[in-house]
Order: sequence, then C-alpha cells, then structure tokens
Amino acid sequence: MTKTLIRGRLLTFKRAPMSLTDTESYAYEHDGGLLIEDGIFAAIGDYADIKAQAAQDTHEIDHRPHLILPGLIDTHLHFPQMQVIASYAGSLLEWLNTYTFHEECRFVESDHAARIATRFYDEMIRHGTTTAAAYCSVHKASADAYFAEAMKRGMCMVGGKVMMDRNAPQGLLDTPQMSYEETRAVIEQWHGKGRNHVAITPRFAITSTPEQMQAAQALAQEFPDLHIQTHLSENLDEIRYTCELYPEAKDYTDIYARYGLLGAKTLLGHAIHLSDREADVLSETGSVAVHCPTSNLFIGSGLFPLNAIRRRNKPVRVAVATDIGGGSSYSMLRTMDEAYKIQQVLGQRLNPLDSFHLMTRGNAEALSLVDRIGTLEVGTDADLVVLNAAATPAMALRLETVTTLPEELFLLQTMGDDRAVAETYVAGKAMKQGLEPNLGA
Ligand code: GUN
Ligand code: ZN
Repeated sequence: MTKTLIRGRLLTFKRAPMSLTDTESYAYEHDGGLLIEDGIFAAIGDYADIKAQAAQDTHEIDHRPHLILPGLIDTHLHFPQMQVIASYAGSLLEWLNTYTFHEECRFVESDHAARIATRFYDEMIRHGTTTAAAYCSVHKASADAYFAEAMKRGMCMVGGKVMMDRNAPQGLLDTPQMSYEETRAVIEQWHGKGRNHVAITPRFAITSTPEQMQAAQALAQEFPDLHIQTHLSENLDEIRYTCELYPEAKDYTDIYARYGLLGAKTLLGHAIHLSDREADVLSETGSVAVHCPTSNLFIGSGLFPLNAIRRRNKPVRVAVATDIGGGSSYSMLRTMDEAYKIQQVLGQRLNPLDSFHLMTRGNAEALSLVDRIGTLEVGTDADLVVLNAAATPAMALRLETVTTLPEELFLLQTMGDDRAVAETYVAGKAMKQGLEPNLGA
C-alpha cells in the first residue's frame, strides 16, 4: 500500500460560505496533516495528531507555507479547442464558423487527437485542475484519445463525443443514427473505466436536427445516470436563430425540456440570457447553469448574473468553468477573477471564500460527484492543489500585508495563475513537478 503524509495549511469547504466571516462553512488547519493511502484520504487533521497515527513507512512531503485545497474542477471546456484559444472574432456565431468548426475537423485523425490530449492533460495539471467536463469533437477518435489519456493519468474526467448533424462543415457532421451508435460505443468502451464518466453531448440546438435531439433523448432514457452537457442562451443572435429552428418550443430552454434533456445531471453552458420562465424550469428540474466568465467577456456574449440566479426564489444550481477555447485562460483562478469583476459590474459581491468553494466543492456538487471529489473528506479521492500566494515578486510583496485567510484567497484569485500552483496531486500522486515544459514541442 502506498502511504503518503502531506503537511501544509489545509482548507476544505463544508457548504457555500454566506460571507467573509462565515467560518462555519469551511475547515482550516494551520499546520495540517493529510494521510493518503492508495489514492484515498485516510485521515485529516492537525499535523502532530496525524503523524502519530501514520505507519513507519509513510512517505512525508512538507508543503509549508503553502495552502492545500481539493483539486480544482472545471465544469465546461472543449478539448479540441486548444488551438482555437485567442481567435479574434466579433461574436459567437462568427467565432464558431470562422475558426472553431474548422479546427475541430482535424480531430478525425487519431494521431492529432492523441497529441492534443497529452497537451490538454498537461495544461490541466499545470493549472491545478484535477477534474474537468469536456466536449470532445464529433469524431469518436477524439473521445477515445480523451478518455485513454485520462486513464493513463488516473484522473476523474467527464467528457463526451459531440453530437452534431447540421449547420457546420461536412467534416464535422454525424447523423442521428451515427451519433446514437457512436455515443453508445463510447459509453461501452469508457464509462466507469478508471475514473471516466461519459456525458451525452448534443453540442447545441443549432447543430442538431429534431431527429438527433430524439437520439439524445433515447440515450438519456437508456442511461439515466449519465451527465448531459450542451449550450444554452449564450448570445442573442444564437437565441433568435435557435428559436426559428424550433418554432414549436416556448423558448430555448423549452427545446431541451421537450427532448427530456433537463435534470440534475444536465450541465448547460453559459445560460446567460434567460427569462424568468426559463430560470424556473432550470430550478424545477435541478439543471445546472455553467458560468464561463472569461469566455463570456472574450466573445462578448453578456454578463451572467451568478449571484442573482442562485439567490432567486426558485434558485438555479450553478457551476463555474473556463470554456477553453472561447475562454481565454486555463486557470480557474483567472476564471474566478473574471467572475468577480462581472459581479462587480452587476452591483453584486462575490466573496473569495465563495469563489474557492465554487472551484472545489461547489463544482463537485454541480457534477453530482461530491462523494468522490471536491473536498478533503476521508474516504474520497486524494486530488489536491497546492497554492503559493507568493509565486511572483508582485504577489510576494502584496502578501506581506495580508493578514487573513480570505485576503490570501483573494490575492491568489486576483493575481494568481499557473505560477501559483506549486503542485497538483491526482489520486495521491504528485503530477506537476515532473511535467515536461513542452515549449515548442
Ligand atoms: N456553442 C456551441 N458550440 C460552442 C462552443 O464550442 N463554444 C462556445 N462558447 N459556445 C458554443
Ligand atoms: Zn462551450
């Protein structure tokens, strides 16, 4: 049995923090010890207490003075868009048609998909992200590469072969039948293997015919435990065109409702421009609105009312995500900095405890995976991020005047990126220090 004792400052959340002084919402150990046995947390507490319980042959790693949290979680991004990030476009549909669809066509080649998968997981680890929910491309080869690499690294990943059968280049289209059969094949081959979770992934209503939506519905009925991921109400032109394509639906949300695609395991990317009726439907079905702040600003899609939507009478479940390659950073720290700024513009406050809750436990709850990831609770999988709030000279200087934990978190969120990630552990294994730099490779 591999036994590791990690020493450092430990932080894990018990629930969403209501304010900066809500100390009941988290557990913090200033000199903490985390005992990991075979990739699972076996004990957590004060270092001296945990050290006393540890067996003689336990390998010990000291991360003081860094802060150790559950690994960060990214609930929406696109694995085939690593070479789309930083593309110059005026709006969502222009961005998709000019760059994104063409780039995704390349994933028909399994060698290309395998190369990008390696780089994708390197970037996740570099940024402290230990679980992500990604869209692959329409090609089964892309899902194969994505899940094969996740297994190699022992990571808990959600992903799906995209279903799309219209309004895109020929090289990026399947058919209702193909999308059904290939998604089924991906489920059989990968779901439950290692720590893999396959998601049913109709890209969005614009790229699926009603027949393909029926295929997605059939999959959802056959595999009710699977995640479903799609996009909803990101951009006003998109919404107009979508409603033209489905004139019988009350609104955009109603399209997914009609095909039985809403529910507690449904992740709806963006969901920015919702009517009250639509927000009520998301609330009633327990569907999750996934906020992608860097993407929403970069593509110019709009300002998601993160606080308002989860605090309405009928609250909507929320998650946070990078949305690479519409998003402009792989870092969940950078992501929450932009989420904070959007809330500021909307006259709302997003407190840093809440931000770090969202990146960890909050996103784990949104994925219905909190029994495995997102906390430091005994019996769950030992995925960790080790954060250094003095990672750059400017951060170190600012840290000199920091006196509280929320201030330190806010500094990490405001100034931090991959440089602030000192180490990333996946199932108890340190993954970041051994990464190749990959420069120019
Ligand atoms: N809507 C449909 N596909 C996409 C995508 O790849 N990125 C974003 N941001 N929105 C989408
Ligand atoms: Zn997306």
